[in-house]
Amino acid sequence: MNTVIDSAVTETLLYHEQTKHHFHRYARSAGFMDWANQPNPFRFYEGVTPVRLPLLQKDSAGEHLALYERSRNASQDFTRESIGAFLELSLGLSAWKSIPGSTWALRMNPSSGNLHPTEAYMILPALPGITAGVFHYSPLLHALEPRAEGSDTLQQQIKKHFHTDGFLVALTSIFWREAWKYGERAFRYCQHDVGHALAALSFSANLLGWEVTWLNGVSDEEITRVLGFDQTRWPEFEMEHPELLCFVHRSGEQAIPRDLSREIGTEFSGRGFQGRPNRLSDDHMDWEIISRVAEATAKPKHEEAALTVHVRHGLPESTRPFYTPPTQFKIPAAQIIRQRRSAVAFDGVSSITKDQFCTMLDKTLPRDACAPFDLGLTVPAIHLLLFVHRVTGLEPGLYFLLRAERDLPALQQKCHRHFLWSPVDETLPLYLLQAGDFQSTAASVSCGQSIAGESAFSLGMIARFRAEIETAPYRYRHLFWETGMIGQALYLEAEAQGVGATGIGCFFDDPVHELMGLSDDAFQSLYHFTVGGPREDARLATLAAYHHLEAAAR
Ligand SMILES: Cc1cc2nc3c(=O)[nH]c(=O)nc-3n(C[C@H](O)[C@H](O)[C@H](O)COP(=O)(O)O)c2cc1C
Repeated sequence: MNTVIDSAVTETLLYHEQTKHHFHRYARSAGFMDWANQPNPFRFYEGVTPVRLPLLQKDSAGEHLALYERSRNASQDFTRESIGAFLELSLGLSAWKSIPGSTWALRMNPSSGNLHPTEAYMILPALPGITAGVFHYSPLLHALEPRAEGSDTLQQQIKKHFHTDGFLVALTSIFWREAWKYGERAFRYCQHDVGHALAALSFSANLLGWEVTWLNGVSDEEITRVLGFDQTRWPEFEMEHPELLCFVHRSGEQAIPRDLSREIGTEFSGRGFQGRPNRLSDDHMDWEIISRVAEATAKPKHEEAALTVHVRHGLPESTRPFYTPPTQFKIPAAQIIRQRRSAVAFDGVSSITKDQFCTMLDKTLPRDACAPFDLGLTVPAIHLLLFVHRVTGLEPGLYFLLRAERDLPALQQKCHRHFLWSPVDETLPLYLLQAGDFQSTAASVSCGQSIAGESAFSLGMIARFRAEIETAPYRYRHLFWETGMIGQALYLEAEAQGVGATGIGCFFDDPVHELMGLSDDAFQSLYHFTVGGPREDARLATLAAYHHLEAAAR
């Protein structure tokens, strides 16, 4: 192995080990909440004039399954209105919450600690009401902040390269936002959040008849240039890190190239970028290990074997019809997105049916022509270890959803010998490992959070780990993206079926592995999640998402 990759692998594995939570020791963090330096969750570019986007006056009529199935949504033109809808229903604000003395915004995409480290950028052609250019999206203003002008040449080159109309969207992370609260483990949370945001973009695009294709041939360095980050003066510790670049195009277009041409790269290098990023905190703590893992997991440019979209590694298509929820839960697709919230507590009694359970799990499997897993992240590498508590028709116990057949022999060999691996559903790769009451175990391994035991089911997302990192350390980030995408699908599906869900970033890593009988890092748990009957917090008042803009306009 070449020594550069070698040391990047070592650095990445070290980061992972060092940021594990243990029963008697949490990963290093400040250990207190430095409220005076809480980072601003909104980035602005000073010195530019934002271009306001219209808010949707009326949501599309598409029902629940329009979130997933591409065939259900007619393609809309690329206009200022449709770009506004795309961003509103993916990364826009969803509401404000308040208690006496404190008010905070929520968004369509969730975020650990509601700290929102993910920022989005758009590279748009000239559209009615928008000039071509590179823009930062401001969810607070629902506006585009212009950073660089586009040119006719660039526009033509993009169209020529992708053989079709469309635009580019990029996601970046501000590690400091999460590190402020979570210290060294923050890099993981930022990557989860990227996965959630990526799936949110894919779902929102789908409702407009568009498709998001991840450009997996592009390097982080190229994204830096495209976004003008190499020309931007960042406040210390608040730099944005390139995560990914996608091309958004009409659904069903075939053979979208998954890289950028040299000509496009050169055109971007010649642009002048404007605007000064706002300062998010007055003071910072330097979590040096985060800079090191970011460097170790930087993505190089290359022609991956995976330049074709890999789908159908889970279920063969159509073995299980998509579940249609009962009439009382027939919520329009856009409304499902708008009302998604993290449950802060579960009632400890509500159950779901086996059919609901299986169809929710089914939404986490890649299918052809279905959002979000057809955006081409690569062969699934994440499986679900399920703690089933309250699912009628299924005995409580430990279950496993195998998202890629390839890993079954290794898992069976590495997990406890007493696990049954008995199939429980003819349409899903779902296995019973061990019957029993796992409520207190689930809560205990999830940092003692009762939300993991009082739900209908909770789960740990188990990654095929060492083999992925050893060949390509940047895959470390992609594994977390995949978990975030699964989480986003589960959040929406839980809403569709009248229950609630919550992502769980705080869990004790090795106790989960011990529970499975794993003794090395061939597989690792990367993210937990819980779904069930939510208990509302009556103390919170809710305000409309964009009431502040309406008030300002009056
Ligand atoms: C990656 C991730 C990890 C999270 N971890 C936890 C957790 O450990 N415990 C918890 O109660 N909520 C957790 N949450 C839920 C967030 O606190 C929630 O998304 C945030 O407060 C915003 O609220 P919303 O999801 O209702 O928009 C997590 C969310 C994400 C996306």
